[in-house]
Amino acid sequence: MTDQPADINAKFTPRVFSGIQPSGNLTLGNYLGALKRFAEKQDEGIETVYCLVDLHAVTVWQEPEALKRQTREAAAAFIASGIDPDRSILFNQSQVSAHAELAWLLNCVARVGWMNRMTQFKDKAGKNAEKVSLGLYAYPALMAADILAYHATMVPVGEDQKQHVELTRDIAAKFNHDYKVDFFPSPAPLIEGAATRVMSLRDGSKKMSKSDPSDASRINLTDDADTIAKKFRKAVSDAEPLPESLEGLDGRAEARNLVNIYAALAGITADAVLAQFGGQGFGTFKPALADLAVAKLAPISGEMTRLMADPAEIDRILGKGAAKAEAIAQPILEKTLDIMGMIRSR
Ligand code: AMP
Ligand code: TRP
Repeated sequence: MTDQPADINAKFTPRVFSGIQPSGNLTLGNYLGALKRFAEKQDEGIETVYCLVDLHAVTVWQEPEALKRQTREAAAAFIASGIDPDRSILFNQSQVSAHAELAWLLNCVARVGWMNRMTQFKDKAGKNAEKVSLGLYAYPALMAADILAYHATMVPVGEDQKQHVELTRDIAAKFNHDYKVDFFPSPAPLIEGAATRVMSLRDGSKKMSKSDPSDASRINLTDDADTIAKKFRKAVSDAEPLPESLEGLDGRAEARNLVNIYAALAGITADAVLAQFGGQGFGTFKPALADLAVAKLAPISGEMTRLMADPAEIDRILGKGAAKAEAIAQPILEKTLDIMGMIRSR
């Protein structure tokens, strides 16, 4: 795909967009790879739009009542992590119909060959590719619609979403090229920090995930202090002391993961963690990590519990956010339809 002109984003107001699926307990991976960084972007004073992507969640089966609860819980996690609904736009995707409508239009721009290269689809579909929903296959085009409906220029995500943001750039470039416009920006993935890929506590080769069958593999944002401490104590590690420098972590995926988690929670580099703990064993490091995690996460889970006690207030916040989101997305959808030749006469 021919890329867009290098200066294409200069025509657009800097705007951050990102989303999280409300498909279960949020994890430490979501917090470090996404939520914590979403709050930092907001605090930098950039316009920030954050979305609970319920339309993405139903690409696999969701119990209706559970989906509602999980959406409210995810909203509570955003707010507890420092997202201020007065400074960021926070809403659930299905309340802004422009997402689904623009997704249809982008389905007609994206190529089947591009979709076939999406590794997340291949992983999620596995051997079952004939049986999964059509929505799961089209998932990345809906994600492109989420981003492009806001003309967003920056997309903070974890490492696993990089390919989807690159697909979004390809879709934007093809649209601009085919219709001879410079209507869509070329959104940049922001993959930064020590914890862009937090790994399972049971297996250093697997991503920490809310859908892993083993609860011991992840820290949930709702885990209490004892559970957090126990999970870190039992985390798979090795018998060697921590090395003095990063190269010493080569071939030690579990050790590297625990060091990265410590660094991201403390807001320091992995080098700085090794400067402090190099030469010491996991008998010392794991309790220190557990204490740090509890200190950082306990206020978040406490705040989530407080917010969840008033679901009507969460729904009100999401409704207000959706109205603000729609004010941006609807005109962009209308313009897209117009560019594509659809009559708009009412
Ligand atoms: P998801 O839970 O799949 O909707 O992911 C929401 C956001 O969290 C995305 O930006 C992901 O890249 C990020 N994320 C999910 N799991 C991890 C992980 N284990 N490490 C780092 N980031 C993650
Ligand atoms: N696909 C993302 C994930 O599972 C969630 C998502 C949906 C998203 N739409 C988005 C992320 C737009 C960034 C921008 O993690």
